[in-house]
Amino acid sequence: MADPALHTTFGGIAVRNLYKIFGPNAAAHVDAVRNGMTKTELNAVHGHVLGLRDINIEIASGSIQVIMGLSGSGKSTLIRHINRLIDPTAGEVLVDGVDVVKMGAAELRSFRRHQTAMVFQKFALLPHRSVLDNTMFGLEIQGIERARSRDIAMRWLERVGLKGFESKYPNQLSGGMQQRVGLARALSNDAPVLLMDEAYSALDPLIRMDMQSVLLDIQAEIRKTIVFITHDLDEALRLGDQIAILRDGEVIQQGTSQDIVLRPADDYVASFVREVNRGRVVHVEAVMTPLRTPSQGHAPARTIASDVTIEEALRILVATPEDDATVVDAAGKPVGTVSFRQLAGAMVNAHEIGGQQTANRANVA
Ligand SMILES: Nc1ncnc2c1ncn2[C@@H]1O[C@H](COP(=O)(O)OP(=O)(O)O)[C@@H](O)[C@H]1O
Ligand SMILES: [Mg+2]
Repeated sequence: MADPALHTTFGGIAVRNLYKIFGPNAAAHVDAVRNGMTKTELNAVHGHVLGLRDINIEIASGSIQVIMGLSGSGKSTLIRHINRLIDPTAGEVLVDGVDVVKMGAAELRSFRRHQTAMVFQKFALLPHRSVLDNTMFGLEIQGIERARSRDIAMRWLERVGLKGFESKYPNQLSGGMQQRVGLARALSNDAPVLLMDEAYSALDPLIRMDMQSVLLDIQAEIRKTIVFITHDLDEALRLGDQIAILRDGEVIQQGTSQDIVLRPADDYVASFVREVNRGRVVHVEAVMTPLRTPSQGHAPARTIASDVTIEEALRILVATPEDDATVVDAAGKPVGTVSFRQLAGAMVNAHEIGGQQTANRANVA
């Protein structure tokens, strides 16, 4: 199980047809839930709580999967299935192709220790241990020699910005710094899967954004498979390569930040999206006028990559707002044009974005 070659071959996570019902006779009610019994009915008729219904999520190795939803929607229940802190009522949880649900006790212990690391909302630091000793904790459990553990822990403490704090105690640190220790401890394990359950939800907004940057910076290097839970859409959009939105134990929508913001699946998702600053999320591609003919003959005066945000594009165009820009794809090929007016319009009128996006799709097809 603890194959050192795993880090290079890690194949991601697949959650398949996962159900969780809480109550003494859970298995007896799976079929009813499969056949459409609602969470409310299950509770009223059988006194059982529906935790998760038919969850199917594929998480690519090295990506950040965000799970988002209101309190009580099943986020913690779902993430705890990945390291089997919770046993499912039905379904599979494949991590690197191995079903966690079928693991025996020893295999599960080894799996948790070597393949997963968790970062908690309440930091879960040991108060009587120094920052360094807290960071080394997981390595100690793994039986790794102290001098080597120390080197690894020091490296990660430095990487999260805590060099010089290693002999402090948790109560001498701010919340943000404590969470940095939690992150350093998790990263020291070098497990391919990092599970973060509302890890940043208790932090003040500015510190929280700092911590998001720290995570994104580090992730660009280490490419872990990260499952990140939040109830905050801005955080979800900033961090998630993919986002799954839960309500009452069901996945309501899955997709990229563009998918969620441009095409919310229902009113529940739309109500989250309304609060979002579209300028910072939506890409120019969704606003531009697509090219009807592939080439215009002469080189464009000004180009903008199709995946920059509206806000960034406005910053580029504001110098000479009367001139349109040519939008180019990742290969540098012109795919459309965009004007200052179009960008500004999309900032204030969400409707314009959606309509244009539909038009662009039709154009591609
Ligand atoms: N051990 C449990 N026993 C009974 N119900 C539970 C248990 N754990 C969670 N639940 C219920 O499952 C649902 C999802 O809870 P949870 O996963 O903690 O939501 P979230 O993390 O999104 O706030 C809630 O209705 C909650 O009350
Ligand atoms: Mg929770």
